[in-house]
Amino acid sequence: MTKRSKKYVDASHEAFGLRLATNISLISSLYFSLYPEKEKASYFPKLLDKMEQLFLKRPEELKELDLKRAKVGNWYQSEQLTGMQLYVDRFNKDIKGLDEKLPYFEELGINFLHLMPITTRPSGENDGGYAVNSYHKIDARYGTRKEFLAFTKKARSKNMILMLDFVVNHTSDEFEWAKKAIAGEEKYQNYYHTYPDRQIPDAFEKTLPEIFPATAPGSFTYNKSMERWVMTCFNSYQWDLNYTNPEILIAMLENLLNLANMGVDVVRFDALAFLWKKIGTISQNLPEAHQLVSLFRMCLQVIAPGVILLAEAIVAPRNIIKYFGEGLLEGNECEVAYNASLMALLWNSIATKKTSLLYKSLLETPSKPQDGTWINYIRCHDDIGLGYDDDFIRDLGLSPREHRKFLLDYYCGGLDWSPAKGLLFMYNPKNGDGRITGSAASLLGLEKALEQKDKNSITEAVAKILMLHGIILSYGGIPLIYAGDEIGMLNDYTFLENEDHKDDSRWVNRPKQDWEAVNKLASKKNHASSIFNGLKKMIQLRKKLPVFADVSPPITHPSSNPHIFVFERTNGKDRVWVISNFDENTQFLHVSWLFTIGIHPENNLKDGITGKKLKLERNLLQLSAYEHLWIMGG
Ligand code: GLC
Repeated sequence: MTKRSKKYVDASHEAFGLRLATNISLISSLYFSLYPEKEKASYFPKLLDKMEQLFLKRPEELKELDLKRAKVGNWYQSEQLTGMQLYVDRFNKDIKGLDEKLPYFEELGINFLHLMPITTRPSGENDGGYAVNSYHKIDARYGTRKEFLAFTKKARSKNMILMLDFVVNHTSDEFEWAKKAIAGEEKYQNYYHTYPDRQIPDAFEKTLPEIFPATAPGSFTYNKSMERWVMTCFNSYQWDLNYTNPEILIAMLENLLNLANMGVDVVRFDALAFLWKKIGTISQNLPEAHQLVSLFRMCLQVIAPGVILLAEAIVAPRNIIKYFGEGLLEGNECEVAYNASLMALLWNSIATKKTSLLYKSLLETPSKPQDGTWINYIRCHDDIGLGYDDDFIRDLGLSPREHRKFLLDYYCGGLDWSPAKGLLFMYNPKNGDGRITGSAASLLGLEKALEQKDKNSITEAVAKILMLHGIILSYGGIPLIYAGDEIGMLNDYTFLENEDHKDDSRWVNRPKQDWEAVNKLASKKNHASSIFNGLKKMIQLRKKLPVFADVSPPITHPSSNPHIFVFERTNGKDRVWVISNFDENTQFLHVSWLFTIGIHPENNLKDGITGKKLKLERNLLQLSAYEHLWIMGG
């Protein structure tokens, strides 16, 4: 080691020591509130030793990045970020194929990638890789570890942020711990929630909701070889980890760092609401789950402070924001969370053509802490759940049950007049509960419009696609586009022919990237090029407007027009008003109302996206079907 690099190593070790000193009291109070039992105290020093070992293993280049990021502060709130989510194999074969497409991301303006799981998994059903056989071995179908490391290095050099999943709640039944548990090793049976008979499982199941009721009913699976029941909240082959065992905490911290050390910048904490189980509760969002996430966060803060966490908590709006940390834990849990409420509300507004539930929910749900940010998305690889607050639906004079039935009918083929083409997911005929699957374009009417060769409907569907994306690009947070939606890809029904996928309709919204369509973007004018170019324009503009950094919350402005959604972004210096018409008819806003929210049309205001002057007639601002404006200035 040269003198200079030795100096650097000492300094970075010293920084580790300082971070530990700063955070040790919170780490120990979290640890001992989760593990108050005497026999678990001896694991605390083991945890501290492990933290140091893991720090020493972190590559120097990443340690340097950690220090740089600490100086920048909340880098994840920047307006410069725009993300895309993709399955590496469905996008372009493998890691090498992904690497080849870096120019494609650059062209669209994507600089944040969520790569779906790429580590080893069981052959056959594996929930798209969410049943993990390993947390760090790259599955051969994607390439090698060496290739992935080269890719992360290249991504870093291009300032491309990488997000990968940490499937923190469960492993597959082929994971090495599960195998040892099956072979009868008690130590590993205690890594999971396993029981010799039905007594405890029955007690749990009295209150545990089913996640996949249609395909994986119940929350326990009997393993014949082990002669025990094991908790499986998701699929029968996904075994829930037992975090009441501190050995699991330490082993999973190591797995988390193994992932981070490959050059992952954002770790998606999968299904984190489920981490702590307690008989008599629904075992979701428990205070202990929050403490545990915070404990992971604080350990990471000491070992690799440049790495941040995304909460995958698709839960009720009031519960989502708790994952940013509440009370003493504020700012000490996840930096980022999915804005699942906004996502579900946008789909509600599309179906109802009204914005009342959207406004009500946004105005009446407590806002997130300032240091956190959202992933804003219109859909992801999963289903769209109808997670609205029932009280808000009732306040609008609707019955929550009937309203949800209307939405399922609207999106899943129950209404002839609906332009949407989606499928039901986990529909339960007993109580009418269900969720929706479908690609953005198919849910927004493009598939039907193309089938009917109806030009107006095609134009309308394209406008809807751009409008919803325009909202997530301007709302505040990291916009995340699902790969394929940028060219309006339709539902992929081939999943019905795949034995391992046919019972999981989420595969309908995971189409393989259509490179043929991409190759024609420049030469052919069609719906794909309109969507791609429209998105590209908005992404470019987003990056030029510092007002879109998530430093102050969007201000919603309800008007007397029930079809229109208006919010304002301001940073004290600049202002942008984002206006969307959720109706298929032209809608109007009166100038006197625009004045009240600070828009002065007499100043020759323009829509930033098209550069066109606002359409004003008889003191009314006109918005055509699904028109979406970014009004700049004021
Ligand atoms: C998350 C993933 C989903 C998966 C589940 C179980 O919700 O997004 O795809 O099925 O976790 O791992």
